Amino acid sequence: MAKLFINEKNKKGHINAEIYGHFSEHLGRCIYEGLYVGEDSEIPNVNGMRRDVVGALKEMGIPLLRWPGGCFADEYHWKDGIGPKETRKKMINTHWGGVVEDNSFGTHEFFELCEQLGCKTYVNGNVGSGTVQEMSEWVEYMTFEGVSPMADLRKQNGREKPWKIDYFGVGNENWGCGGSMTPEYYANLYRRFQTYVRQYNADRPIKKICGGANVADYFWTEDVLKTCFAPPHPDFMHGYMDGLSLHYYVHPEGWEVKGSATDFDDKVWYKTLSKAKYMEELVTRHGAIMDQYDPGKKIGMIVDEWGCWFTVETGTNPGFLYQQSTMRDALVAGVTLDIFNKNCDRVQMACIAQMVNVLQSVILTEGEKMLLTPTYHVFHMYKHHQDAELVESFVEGNNIIGAEAEYQVPHLSESVSVDAQGYVNVTISNLSISEGAPVEMVFAQLEPSSVQGTILTEEVHAHNTFEEPDKVKAIEFTEYTIEGRTIRFTAPACSVISFRVK
Ligand code: AHR
Repeated sequence: MAKLFINEKNKKGHINAEIYGHFSEHLGRCIYEGLYVGEDSEIPNVNGMRRDVVGALKEMGIPLLRWPGGCFADEYHWKDGIGPKETRKKMINTHWGGVVEDNSFGTHEFFELCEQLGCKTYVNGNVGSGTVQEMSEWVEYMTFEGVSPMADLRKQNGREKPWKIDYFGVGNENWGCGGSMTPEYYANLYRRFQTYVRQYNADRPIKKICGGANVADYFWTEDVLKTCFAPPHPDFMHGYMDGLSLHYYVHPEGWEVKGSATDFDDKVWYKTLSKAKYMEELVTRHGAIMDQYDPGKKIGMIVDEWGCWFTVETGTNPGFLYQQSTMRDALVAGVTLDIFNKNCDRVQMACIAQMVNVLQSVILTEGEKMLLTPTYHVFHMYKHHQDAELVESFVEGNNIIGAEAEYQVPHLSESVSVDAQGYVNVTISNLSISEGAPVEMVFAQLEPSSVQGTILTEEVHAHNTFEEPDKVKAIEFTEYTIEGRTIRFTAPACSVISFRVK
């Protein structure tokens, strides 16, 4: 029997809602078909945005959306995506399938989508193939209220009022697709480019995100911070940034082979989950470097790309990165979100990649059909952690399980928060492929009088298809007993459970 101790009175930090953020790139069928079908489509839409997808994302509680990339961001020239659609420039999407990008989804459409979703905005600028002027003008176009060439252009294009940019990324993966730069070179460019990301609205400041490391490239983190924190200029005290990004994808069989999304054995199950758990080490070690420059933790770690990256589904364009999503993805999501919650003092935002039809998506579409993946259900079950306070929790007797020493994981993963309505939100996952886990959940003071349980559990390979869209879905969980300060239950193998307790 594992004992989960919860000290609901010991608050450890604020869980930023943006930790539950999403990413949408001009890649495959993410934007086009997945989100945007155009006003003339037969698929029900509002100003071109799919009604079904927008509705499901709102219900899930999407707090933030990152756009337009990804690798695409460093090849994106924003002026190609404004003005009358018939005259917008067409380009080749060189990164993703070599298809024609007609720029019918641009700046106005992105903000329209975020307005419909009611979420915060994260725009990623172009450092790799763009200029300082281009980036600076884009920010002016989007956020300046007064009289200026770019504000006037925006008004000519039908938008009187400026929009709000919550976060602005200065380049993406500039160690790779964003320009193959060295850390010092990028950091100097970062200092320069970010200078011209002007704050036109003192009451609505834009948070600037510096491009961080790939996986365990601690050298990148160190060198970028050293350069950004070097004088002169008073801003060097903050490294000129509000956040530093980190990208990490789980490839069970490595970058070259990746592995099937739906066909895997027990060993690969544990390998995948142990790779998901590796996020903890990455957050700790990159965080330790950040602590040296920013001991007050003012700069957020921004994990703006994470998730499972498998081999594409047979018969689909390899450049479109379309993959299925099983219960294994659900467990990866649960484990990862618990890690982010528990490190909320440093992790201030994260974006799973990518929202629709690409990598570990929460939604898949086919023509007018839409399905919710197991990962969607996990985000839905975790939504009460958004903007809640993390509280102390600890599992005693958490066995180590797994296929081989190399791929071992704890039997249970958990995180606990208290929200503004006074509910204690507990999320707990059983990572075992075969063994249930009896759990005794003990609160420090609370004697629960109201408990709402939800569970997502199925066979490990289970996934939703357009023929069977509800095979995997979250349902009410009532198999628990309450005695004083203790709730007892058994977490089935391969399950994610959430409790809302008062
Ligand atoms: O999410 C797919 C790609 O992965 C992104 O475009 C890029 O930033 C990363 O390498």
